[in-house]
Amino acid sequence: MEQTLSIIKPDAVAKGVIGKILDRFESNGLRIAATKKVQLSRQDAEAFYAVHKARPFFNDLVDFMVSGPVVISVLEGENAVLKNRDLMGATNPKEAAAGTIRADFAENIDANAVHGSDSLENAAIEIAFFFSGREIS
Ligand code: RTP
Ligand code: MG
Repeated sequence: MEQTLSIIKPDAVAKGVIGKILDRFESNGLRIAATKKVQLSRQDAEAFYAVHKARPFFNDLVDFMVSGPVVISVLEGENAVLKNRDLMGATNPKEAAAGTIRADFAENIDANAVHGSDSLENAAIEIAFFFSGREIS
């Protein structure tokens, strides 16, 4: 059993597809072990995406992530990290496979509907960043 962190980004929350996206997880064997709707501060977003600090898109990414509320969840299941990434589709929605969350709900590479942890190691770090133990069950 693995746990991974999912964020439904401001574009998808604004579109009103929180339920549709959470259903993709539950319908594909990922249990929602924790979930909450949060308005990230600039400090939160900068710390969360610190690995991308040197990249040219960092400021745009932070601006976007604080542009409205997000829904942050812990997903649990067999191969949860990879399974979530498969359900999400490619970073650029134009390259995302048909039937993936980004193909169906994302507009472009900046407003791309969801975040998912990219490794088991980062999943543990990202879950601890947003949730205390008592919020996960
Ligand atoms: P995420 O972390 O949000 O799940 O996305 P990801 O793993 O698929 O992509 P990553 O390389 O970690 O990039 C994080 C976010 O930065 C934006 N980005 N823009 N303009 C660009 O070339 C570019 N590359 C990445 C995307 O919004 C991506 O989700
Ligand atoms: Mg990433």
